[in-house]
Amino acid sequence: MMLNHFRRWRVQRSWERKWRTPNYRPDWLADTPRPFVLTGFDAGWLVPGQTVLEIGCGLGTTAAWLAQHGLEVLAVDISSHVIEQAQKNFPNQPGLEFRCADVCAPVTCPTVFDVIIDTGCLQHIPPGLRDCYRKNLLAWSRTGSRFVLTMHQRDRTAAERLAEVQSLFSAGFELVHTQEMPPPNAEKFNHLNSIFHFVRR
Ligand SMILES: C[S@@+](CC[C@H](N)C(=O)[O-])C[C@H]1O[C@@H](n2cnc3c(N)ncnc32)[C@H](O)[C@@H]1O
Repeated sequence: MMLNHFRRWRVQRSWERKWRTPNYRPDWLADTPRPFVLTGFDAGWLVPGQTVLEIGCGLGTTAAWLAQHGLEVLAVDISSHVIEQAQKNFPNQPGLEFRCADVCAPVTCPTVFDVIIDTGCLQHIPPGLRDCYRKNLLAWSRTGSRFVLTMHQRDRTAAERLAEVQSLFSAGFELVHTQEMPPPNAEKFNHLNSIFHFVRR
């Protein structure tokens, strides 16, 4: 219990420091939503009116794009600073709420979501905290909810990423689709992304 508290504190402090660094502009940061989100309407898994939770939303680009396209979005991040930035970037956007929350802590959510998206958050969460993440994911979803997870292949192969996510989620979620795509800013960040589409059993 205390150990997890300490782990969460370390994660929170690390991201808060990064986001508070003046002109923090890591290579993975993109000014457009990820390609798999942009094609989600054509693919049929994004539909206006759905409720969406974005985990680790950063500056809020994807969350705002989804709200602008008619979805009801709650976007959370562990850094209070980046949540303030996101709120400033996208003020008064109907259907969009930003909230500071740690997805590895017990978080009470008033609703369950049709779609849950994580682009690049889980890959940074230490193994000891991933079970808390998984439990929250189960609490925030229902049978049929879709969970779309993106992880880069900088330090792991596609097969290693697949094994990593299957061991975590296969008991509660069925893997229905996998994709490999370059990031939107491939000229700066040239690692492929593995994208896993799960549906809650
Ligand atoms: C690699 S960044 C990706 C940001 C954004 N999704 C994007 O694609 O630009 C990971 C994000 O997850 C957030 N994060 C890390 N651990 C978290 C946690 N336990 N709960 C909520 N957010 C977390 C970080 O603050 C950071 O904004």
